[in-house]
Amino acid sequence: MEQIGIAMIGCGTVGGGVAKILAEQQERLATRCGKTLMLRRVVVRDPGKARPHIAREIITTDAKAAINDPSVSIVLELVGGVSAAREYVLQALAAGKNVVTANKHLLAEHGAEIFDAARKHDRVVAFEASVAGGIPIIAAILQSLAANQITGIQGILNGTSNFILSSMAESGASYADALKEAQARGYAEADPTLDVDGSDAAHKLAILAQIAFGVTVPFAKIERFGIAELRAMDLRFAHELGYTIKLLAEAWLDGKEVALHVAPVLLRHTDMLAQVRGAHNAVQIVGDAVGEMMFQGAGAGALPTASAVVADLIDLAVGRAQRTFQAAKLWSANARGFTLRAAEGVRSRFYLRVLVRDIPGMLADVARVLADHSISIASVIQHEALEEHSEQVVPLVIMTHYAPTGQFRAAVKKIDTLKGVVPPGVYYSVDD
Ligand code: NAP
Ligand code: HSE
Repeated sequence: MEQIGIAMIGCGTVGGGVAKILAEQQERLATRCGKTLMLRRVVVRDPGKARPHIAREIITTDAKAAINDPSVSIVLELVGGVSAAREYVLQALAAGKNVVTANKHLLAEHGAEIFDAARKHDRVVAFEASVAGGIPIIAAILQSLAANQITGIQGILNGTSNFILSSMAESGASYADALKEAQARGYAEADPTLDVDGSDAAHKLAILAQIAFGVTVPFAKIERFGIAELRAMDLRFAHELGYTIKLLAEAWLDGKEVALHVAPVLLRHTDMLAQVRGAHNAVQIVGDAVGEMMFQGAGAGALPTASAVVADLIDLAVGRAQRTFQAAKLWSANARGFTLRAAEGVRSRFYLRVLVRDIPGMLADVARVLADHSISIASVIQHEALEEHSEQVVPLVIMTHYAPTGQFRAAVKKIDTLKGVVPPGVYYSVDD
């Protein structure tokens, strides 16, 4: 049987999962592609580490030699980060190799350069694992939903944040412990800041906007907020009000206008996205023919992510990926004009939590600022004590009626300056 030679650069969480599937399911994979998928070289930083499922003699630190090995036709980039990964991918394409990558950071920031290089060298870049781990969302949008104009995407796209939020809400874990556990399970990025500050979800959102809307949104322009400011009390207050807090990535297309943002959002307990737990991801799509649909599954971790990587290998082996790549015309091959809608103008309801000194007139002062900004209060919660602060400081929670985001943010800025307020006021939009 014909063999397809693979060089895998990076053999950590995802690479380890890929090596396991290639080693344990060789026969199944050969039946599905009509060819044998052979790992010829595995490039790592530390060749001394134990690497199950990989023959010692194919482990190397020489990426250049692995890429240029004539028996290799596919290079898997599973290193992460941007700098070295970009070099490896560009070198592989220039050497005439097809590339499979799980690197959303790289594609969100250098997609145009990488896809131009692939077209120049008549090669393919496959990237199913870059968004939502094991969920086949790239294939779904590029192939199965190709008849549609997608107009909306709402998703839980970061497994680590969702794992942290679920652990805090369900088992009362602390933020720090939940993050540690997510790292131990291999969900988090090498730099977990990207997971918790909304950047990783924004990287994935940029890729989804590219394949669904045909727009290249500069990454820096995607407004993103993460979960690092969120406290256990916010989850409790939200719960008391009938909501679950999720880190939500959203992309909307309205004519030539595109809106993209990532932020924690209060969702009704009954919302399907509110019920997505642990490291699972979910993507809700609105298509003009198909209507609304939702995809859900493991969004991070060794085997779920490797499932998507190996699917790309099979697609390359049978020639499907080559056809999809040509037809999809991604990044600069099909650049579409658009304007980015500023978040300031979007109307929403808001959850606001301010820590205030328990003194006369405090509630009235906060309410006055909201009224001055024409923001109407829907409900208020003020309990008597707060564990992590002295007795004189209490959380004041306010749910607002609909208001323009810009106006609301201006009000919070002002509230933060009030005497008796311990800034910053923490706020999230409410998706009813
Ligand atoms: P990881 O566990 O940190 O593994 C990184 C691997 O790359 C390690 O084997 C490391 O070598 C190697 N490496 C690092 N720098 C290198 C360099 N300059 N040259 C050669 N090898 C180098 O990362 P991961 O979690 O597997 O993630 C890999 C990629 O998949 C990232 O782009 C990530 O965003 C993406 N991804 C991850 C998940 C997930 O659940 N983890 C899910 C979807 C996508 P050593 O082993 O010697 O240190
Ligand atoms: N760090 C990422 C996450 C891995 O937690 O979702 C999957 O892309």
